[in-house]
Amino acid sequence: MVRSTAAMAAGLMMLSHQSIAQDTDSSSSNAIVVDGTTFSLNGASMSYVFHANTTTGDLVTDHYGGSISGGIPSPREPAVNGWVGMPGRIRREFPDQGRGDFRIPAVRIRQTAGYTVSDLQYQSHEVIEGKPGLPGLPATFGESGDVSTLVVHLYDNYSSVAADLSYSVFPEFDAVVRSVNVTNQGEGNITVEALASLSVDFPLEELDLISLRGDWAREANRERRRVEYGVQGFGSNTGYSSHLHNPFLALVHPSTTESQGKAWGFNLIYTGSFSAQVKKGSQGPGETLTSPEAVSIYSNTGIGGMSRKFHRLYRKHLIKSKFATSDRPPLLNSWEGVYFDFNRSTIKTLAEQSAALGISLFVMDDGWFGDKYPRNSDNAGLGDWTANPAKFPNGLEPVVEDITNITVNNTSSDKNLRFGIWVEPEMVNPNSSLYRSHPDWALHAGPYPRTERRNQLVLNLALTEVQDFIIDFMTNLLNSADISYIKWDNNRGMHEQPSPSNNHLYMLGLYRVFDTLTTRFPDVLWEGCASGGGRFDPGVLQYFPQIWTSDNTDGVDRVGIQFGTSLAYPPSAMGAHLSAVPNHQTGRTVPLEFRAHVAMMGGSFGLELDPGTIQDEPAVPELIALAEKVNPLVLNGDLYRLRLPEDSQWPAALFVAEDGSQAVLFYFQLAPNVNHAAPWVRLQGLEPEARYAVDGEGTYSGATLMNLGLQYTFATEYGSKVVFLERQ
Ligand code: DGJ
Repeated sequence: MVRSTAAMAAGLMMLSHQSIAQDTDSSSSNAIVVDGTTFSLNGASMSYVFHANTTTGDLVTDHYGGSISGGIPSPREPAVNGWVGMPGRIRREFPDQGRGDFRIPAVRIRQTAGYTVSDLQYQSHEVIEGKPGLPGLPATFGESGDVSTLVVHLYDNYSSVAADLSYSVFPEFDAVVRSVNVTNQGEGNITVEALASLSVDFPLEELDLISLRGDWAREANRERRRVEYGVQGFGSNTGYSSHLHNPFLALVHPSTTESQGKAWGFNLIYTGSFSAQVKKGSQGPGETLTSPEAVSIYSNTGIGGMSRKFHRLYRKHLIKSKFATSDRPPLLNSWEGVYFDFNRSTIKTLAEQSAALGISLFVMDDGWFGDKYPRNSDNAGLGDWTANPAKFPNGLEPVVEDITNITVNNTSSDKNLRFGIWVEPEMVNPNSSLYRSHPDWALHAGPYPRTERRNQLVLNLALTEVQDFIIDFMTNLLNSADISYIKWDNNRGMHEQPSPSNNHLYMLGLYRVFDTLTTRFPDVLWEGCASGGGRFDPGVLQYFPQIWTSDNTDGVDRVGIQFGTSLAYPPSAMGAHLSAVPNHQTGRTVPLEFRAHVAMMGGSFGLELDPGTIQDEPAVPELIALAEKVNPLVLNGDLYRLRLPEDSQWPAALFVAEDGSQAVLFYFQLAPNVNHAAPWVRLQGLEPEARYAVDGEGTYSGATLMNLGLQYTFATEYGSKVVFLERQ
């Protein structure tokens, strides 16, 4: 037999001593049907079925895919048996190590005596309406009616180690969310060397692996390859989820496309280092370690259907911010316009020019702080979060007052400009007062030199005093002036760490800081950033409704980066800005409209240039107004990637309102198209019988728009269109 196994894990952890597992059964719902020790997890079009083998205590997977019902045919043994034996042929929910199972183990425990064998057997289970929280970790949430949870308790009689597998089912999204905790109930210390949040074993069939790969300024490239024999995997050991590989993967049939076929998507709700592995098999005392959650989504409507389910789930059951689906103000960010070169008077001018264009949030990026070690370049100041007196002699408050007294043009008369500010709280420059007084707060491993990148070091958020320092200075900053928005940046990977488990403890510390601050300041719009998309992950999204998608602001590159990011993450979560040309990263010149249209596909639209350079461009206020008009659809709508930039020079995307009443089409031409026909773009997600008024076109049926489509031509390369559709 040949099969594929996928596993996602966050890293290694040490554990010691005892606790106990519950052994209760409770009521179930349609989402979770329990028949003896057979468990069916059901979504609108998905079934995930497994059972406990009452002889071996093993948890065996029966099915994960489209809906099934009634009895299940027995799997057959191969006609000719080889020497590998049984364990490799059984689809196991939680494969262990050391008892003849040769697939990737989902758990590896170094027992007190040093060996790495474990035998976790089914003990009991319980069904919970709703979903318990995950202590210290970000997690999906929902009420009874939205989600039901099955907890299966396992126990190893030889080592007194218990494990609970938790499966939460969100039926509306065909989503199963899993986490695992391991509890040491014995006397001695154990080490959990590997623990997968999720491990799925598929039966014999050809599968493709889709993942997101990249680097700084070129994030989220979709990669698709055949699952081959042996282990294929990726991950991050940067300490963060990273630009390099996103903690997302999908398994699809080779015939699956954007709009057809089966797809299984997996995403780890975690911001630290991680590992994702896929393998095609030859045969086919008192302490608990809780894994992060992994979300798995089943789709029978292609890769696009998978993405839409992720998006809806995340908008409703992951992102906690009140701004998850509400309008986001068009903003101007100062970074690419002026970098570190500003003071009170220049900031005021930039803000006035922004407001004159119709911008409603002005964001002062890097460079505003540092007293003894002023932040005039990236070699000083991180850690010293007081306004730079040379730039702001009277502190921050009067600057914020200057800005929030400015009236925004072309809007209701009483609307004033709002103010936002940049911080990078997890970092310190050695050139700072903070580092002089607390050198021990930076990550370090004994006598080894501390490796600097961008002239900075990482504060060790595993330390409570570091967490408290950040919570305190951020609280003071936010209380000191009328600040509506925070951009929380993080510009390097981790360096020398004091212990193997420090990365996870850092993450728990980071989540404590995020949780405290976002709970304390719920009216602030928080944006995550890590040199662009270095931490575009569901862990950050739990607290921050938007993330700066990439430091690459080139309009053409951004089409690919944003389409790629949307594989798992909702467009509502993407920060996207219109910047100057020639572009600062690529040197390319792309028309204003194209750049603006691309940026409008992100939930947080903004400008990132010197607004003085575009004061006389009449198109700019109109484009900002258009961005505001499309924003509710981008924030709440279902995204259909109609054509991909990697497949076509006419990429297109359609956002359809959840109630179907409106839609907006984004259409691009990436290269010149001389004396050659242009393709029609077929829309998706409309009602065939309904009629739609199409901007500048006429009124057509949904069937016509989906089966014939629309056609646009452009005289030059980099053409673009934003087209509204209104159901009649
Ligand atoms: C990296 C971010 O991604 C940029 O947008 C900008 O904020 C710089 N850091 C500032 O140092």
